[in-house]
This record gives sequence, C-alpha cells and structure tokens, in this order.
Amino acid sequence: MEALYGGQQHRRTTILDLAAAKKRAEKWVMLTSYEQMTAEIFDEAGIPVLLVGDSAGNNFLGHENTIPVCVDELIPMVRAVVRASSQALVIADLPFGSYEASPELALATSIRFFKEAGAMGVKLEGAHIKTIEKLVASGIPVMGHVGLTPQSLHQLGGYRVQGRKDGDVILDAARAIERAGAFAIVLELISAELAQKITAALSIPTVGIGAGVNCDAQVLVWTDLMGLTKNPPKLAKAYRNLRAEMLDAATEFAADVRNGEFPGAGQSYK
Ligand code: KIV
Repeated sequence: MEALYGGQQHRRTTILDLAAAKKRAEKWVMLTSYEQMTAEIFDEAGIPVLLVGDSAGNNFLGHENTIPVCVDELIPMVRAVVRASSQALVIADLPFGSYEASPELALATSIRFFKEAGAMGVKLEGAHIKTIEKLVASGIPVMGHVGLTPQSLHQLGGYRVQGRKDGDVILDAARAIERAGAFAIVLELISAELAQKITAALSIPTVGIGAGVNCDAQVLVWTDLMGLTKNPPKLAKAYRNLRAEMLDAATEFAADVRNGEFPGAGQSYK
C-alpha cells in the first residue's frame, strides 16, 4: 500500500490506509476544516484526514465551547468539506446531544451525516461501547475520543489534563473502544507517558492532541495551526500568524479605499 505522504494518490484515504500506516510506523496528521477553502488547501497539501469537528462551535460559529453545536449546523460544513476535497477521508464529529441517548439515536444521526453530507466516518467522545458496535456493524467507521472530552467540560471541571491519577481508566476505555471496532482514537490532553502506553497497547492508530510525540498521528484545530485563534491553548503550535496578516490586509484595504487607491486601473473595466 502507498505511503500516506508523497505518493501519487488519486483516491481518498481509507481506514485501511490508516491501519497500514500504523503497521509501518508512518506518522500522519488530521486537521479540522469547516468549509470549502481550508478543505481545498489541506487536501492539496496531502493531509489524509479532515475532521469537521464540533470545535466549529468556538472557532467558526462564535460560541464559547463545543456544547451548543447542532447536527443541522454541522451537516452543511461536512457537505462543503467533502465537495472541496478529493483525497482526504472526511470525518464528521457527532455533536453533543446527538448520540448519547442510545445506539439507535447515534445510528440515525450518523446516517444523516452519511446520506445528506457524504461523510466517510464519524467521531464520538467517550466509551459508548454499544453505540460504537452498532455503528460499525452498520458500516459506519468510528473514530473514538478519550482523555479530555470537551463535550463533558462541565463534568470534568474545565479543560484539565486527564488521567493523572486514573490513567488505567483511560487505557481500559481505549482498549474497549478498539474492541468495539473503532478504526482510530483521539487522545486529548493526557500525559505523553500515558499516550505512549495507550499507543503501544492498541493496534488501531492513536491521534494525539496535547498527548505528546509518541502517538501514531497528530491533530490540530486549523485556526490554532495558522495563528488565527485569539487565545490558543498550550497544546497548539501556530505555524503562521494569519491573524496579524488578515488584520493588516483589512486595515490596508480600508486605507486604500479612503485614499482613493482602490480600485485601481487593474480592477476597473472600460
Ligand atoms: O472538534 C474537534 O476539533 C476535535 C479535535 C480537537 C480532535 O474533536
């Protein structure tokens, strides 16, 4: 099977490619995307997995956290990301309230993401083992998510490192999620040591965010990666400063219009 990076891939990444990458110890990345432009750019960059995360809540929709995000808000985002990409595996995050009540509810929600938006997998937070089994049995690839699960923000008492005292609980949950059939699992905000232990214990890829360097893959929220987020978390590294770039561009545009310098001859018609 072809390497995830640098190959001549003319098809979408599949969960089988990700399993094969773990076997040959090839690391990969996942990025969030909520609309067309970033999906096009990240797909062109060869990012193999795009997550339409419920982090859209506090990075796109103006909420304080992910809790208020609804299925009807995420569906058009997933649809746009699928339309704008041709190589990435596109995963839809199941938002808070759309899956916890029963495996049947989770299946109905996931089917909406598949039929109405073209999602190729779903991600859900926590050890909902029966639900994961039901989705996988129905042909829906599932990405798990343990450690800090932001939808449980109020239960956890804030965005705090998880598993300091009860690391084995997280390890056991990860093992159960793998046994239930998940194809990969996000490890969020746990010690690098615990993430390494979980990564070694599982045969499915671990995708770290604030979980150290030894995970099989890494995920970042794209606005953190590009330096757009006002108060980025410690776990994020800004590879660019788009916030400053965009601020400058908007300020220059306004000044040019005030000074009569825009539109110029190049932007005018005869
Ligand atoms: O919603 C999201 O962006 C996520 C990632 C941080 C894993 O869940």
